[in-house]
Amino acid sequence: MDGPAAQRSNLLTKRCALGADQDVPHSPASQASRYADAMASATNSSKSPAPDPDHVDRLSRFITGLPKAELHLHIEGSLEPEMLVELAARNGVELPFADVEAVRAAYSFTNLQSFLDIYYQGAAVLQTEADFYDLMKAYLVRAHADGVVRTEMFFDPQTHTERSIGFDVFMPGFLKAMADAETEMGVSTGLIMCFLRHLPGSAAVETFHAAADYHDQLLGVGLDSAEVGNPPENFVEAFDLAAEAGLHRVTHAGEEGPPSYITGALDALGAERIDHGVRAEEDPALMDRLAMSGIALTVCPRSNLELCVIDDLADHNLKRLADAGLTITLNSDDPAYFGGYVAKNYLDTALALDLTEADLVSFARNSIDATFASAEQQAEWTRSLDDYVDGFGLSG
Ligand code: ADE
Ligand code: ZN
Repeated sequence: MDGPAAQRSNLLTKRCALGADQDVPHSPASQASRYADAMASATNSSKSPAPDPDHVDRLSRFITGLPKAELHLHIEGSLEPEMLVELAARNGVELPFADVEAVRAAYSFTNLQSFLDIYYQGAAVLQTEADFYDLMKAYLVRAHADGVVRTEMFFDPQTHTERSIGFDVFMPGFLKAMADAETEMGVSTGLIMCFLRHLPGSAAVETFHAAADYHDQLLGVGLDSAEVGNPPENFVEAFDLAAEAGLHRVTHAGEEGPPSYITGALDALGAERIDHGVRAEEDPALMDRLAMSGIALTVCPRSNLELCVIDDLADHNLKRLADAGLTITLNSDDPAYFGGYVAKNYLDTALALDLTEADLVSFARNSIDATFASAEQQAEWTRSLDDYVDGFGLSG
C-alpha cells in the first residue's frame, strides 16, 4: 500500500482542520522519523512518544488472539480497492480511477458525507451474486484472522435496490458466504439490514416489505447514512414492523448528530445498541441512562479519526465513556476505507490511549455480552476468552 491512505493507516492522528490534501505529513524526513519501524504498523499519535516495536508486536499478537465479537461493520465498507478494481473489470463498470492506487488516494475524508459519497459510488461495482459472495467471504476471512468469533454485520439494501440489484441477488451471495465461513472457520455470523436515513421513512418501510422472503434470515434492523438532519423519529414505522417480526433493533446515533438522536433512538426506535454514540458525553442524564441500562456503544475509533469526528486518536473519549460505566465495544465500521480491521482498531486505540491489556479484555468481553447470540453461545465464547486471558497470566 502506498500513497495517502497507506500513510494514514499508520497514523493515529489526522489533520482534518487543515483540509483533505494536507492531512498527512508531506516531508520525507518527517515521514521517516514517524515511521521508524514500518513493521510495527502502528506509530505514535502526535501526543505520545513513538512506541517500542517489541511492545507493539507483543500487543498486536495479544489482540489478534483475543476472542472478540465485531458488532459494527458495514459489509459494503469492507470493499478493498483491489476488489473494487477487479469487480469493475469483471462487470464492465467504468471507474473514475486509473488504478488501485488512485482509488486509495481518493480515500481522504473531511466528514461523514464526504465518505458516503465515495462509499456509495464504490458499491456500484457489486452486481452479481458472486460479487456479494466474494465481498462477504473476504471480510470473514479477515475477521477470523483478527480473532473474531462472532460478527453481526450491516448491509445497505437500498444502495443496491436503487440500482435494480434485488434481494434475490445479494442475499443468496451473503448467506452462502456466511454458511461457508461458519463451516470452514467456525465464525458465527448475523446480518443486520440497515435503512438509509437520508431517504424517507416510507422508503424504509418499503424496503422492510421487499425483504419479506428473508426476514427469517435477518438478525435485526439498523439505521445508517447521513445523520445530521435525519432524526431517528422518521423511522418509527419501519422499526415497529421489525420489532413485530421479532427482529433486533440498533441505530447509528451520536456519531456526528446530537445526543438527542441517541435519546430518540432509545425512545422512538427501541434501539438495543447504539452505533458510535460518542456524543453521549455531552448529555449527563443520557450518560447515566446508558450506564444504568448497560446498552452497549459500538465505537469505531479509526472511523472517528478518518471522518474528522476527532483530530487525534489520543483525543478519543472511549476510555472516559468506559470509566463512566458505559458498555464500550471496539469495531472497524468500514475497514477498507478507514485503514484497518477490528484488531487494528484495538491496537491503534491501545497505543494512543495507553490502554492496558485488561482494558482490551474488558472491551472484548463487552462485545461478546452485547451480541444477539444465545446465552449459551455467549458463555462459550466468554469461556474461551477467559482461557486465553489465563494463558497470558492476566486477570480479565
Ligand atoms: N454507512 C457506512 N458507514 C457509516 C457510518 N460511519 N455512519 C453512518 N453511515 C454509514
Ligand atoms: Zn457505521
